[in-house]
Amino acid sequence: MLTLGIESSCDDTSVALVESSDRGHVVISEKTASQIDIHKKYGGVVPEIAGRMHAEKIVPLVEEVLNSPSPLESPLGQGGKNRPDVIAVTAGPGLITGLVVGVEAARTLSYAWNIPLVAVNHIEGHVHSVEITNSKFQISNNPQNSNHQKYPTSNIQYPALALIVSGGHTELIYIKKQGSYKVIGKTKDDAAGECFDKVAKLLDLPYPGGPQISQLALKGNPQAINFPRPMINEKIDFSSENEPAFGWSFSGLKTSALYWLRDHKLAAMHLNHIRLPAGFFAQMPEPPTLEDFCASFEQAIIDVLVAKTLKAAEEYKPKTVILGGGVSANVKLRSTLETALNANLKISNFLFPMNTYCMDNAAMIATAGYYKAVKKEFADWRTIKADPNWEIE
Ligand code: KG4
Ligand code: ZN
Repeated sequence: MLTLGIESSCDDTSVALVESSDRGHVVISEKTASQIDIHKKYGGVVPEIAGRMHAEKIVPLVEEVLNSPSPLESPLGQGGKNRPDVIAVTAGPGLITGLVVGVEAARTLSYAWNIPLVAVNHIEGHVHSVEITNSKFQISNNPQNSNHQKYPTSNIQYPALALIVSGGHTELIYIKKQGSYKVIGKTKDDAAGECFDKVAKLLDLPYPGGPQISQLALKGNPQAINFPRPMINEKIDFSSENEPAFGWSFSGLKTSALYWLRDHKLAAMHLNHIRLPAGFFAQMPEPPTLEDFCASFEQAIIDVLVAKTLKAAEEYKPKTVILGGGVSANVKLRSTLETALNANLKISNFLFPMNTYCMDNAAMIATAGYYKAVKKEFADWRTIKADPNWEIE
């Protein structure tokens, strides 16, 4: 099945053509227009500007994707056929100014081309992002392929547990079977990626801050500053049907980073590479560097994410653990979670997306949309609506 995916829920306009079968999902063509350079000036996404940029880009991107001159020869056998069988669009959650652009484009195409339409939840897209491949080599099930273990296709075994961490979301989701979701953990305030971005701003690092902090953290000491681990020992209440049992709070961590910089003015100058007189620290211990600050802060976030995921895995006993969303690009988070699951619970089926599919992208929307199309869960172009607060269920 060929699915045309459309994603415009935040600051990326993305369109992709994905070929799917029960053997896997191959990206035939994908084009993304990132708005990061525009929003950078404001230190975050400006909804009004985002909406206008999506509207400008979406139709040219659809045209480019469908007319891409030589679609990758697909191992699934249908490559080269450019008329999609179904259109999948992100209908929520996200910024309403962006969502409406994608939904309006998708329903217009569905009507004009007489192609069925599916509405995809953005978070469900991140869940299925771990199944995407863009190379026929990876789908060939060749056990000699060293990437095969890391980027398996169609290898989600249910029940599964997904930790989706991005700029807008931090959620733990129990997936009993494909398409059946229960949110069992949520952040009470900022999302993990948002916390990375806000602390990066305090350090005058450019937006988005997550990749900047994680890059600097590689050379720092994660024990240099003892940042708090909010709610790490929270008592888990499984009795409530309505409230997610697992919680995070990242705004306190952001505030403690702010207070640390305020209370350690000299250290903060040092950390920002402001040159202090030679021998300045001769009479006192050398303060942490910018790299140490980043490593310590990153470690605090990783510790709380991993602790809660482990507790949830212990309780729900999933066959697969999925890590998705923009923050899943964080190499240390991946390796810490992988090791912890293996060492504590002997869970070895741990999946995360190829780097290109960590951030928002239309290929993951097409992939999630395929499963809906197979089950004939179509949306009507006359009534489909963008829902900025759509809860996955
Ligand atoms: O999924 P995504 O592209 O958009 C949302 O749905 O929010 O995620 C973007 C977020 C940003 O907050 C960015 O700082 C964060 O993912 N991010 C990272 C890394 N790469 C991206 N955070 C930590 N470490 C990284 N390597
Ligand atoms: Zn996202």
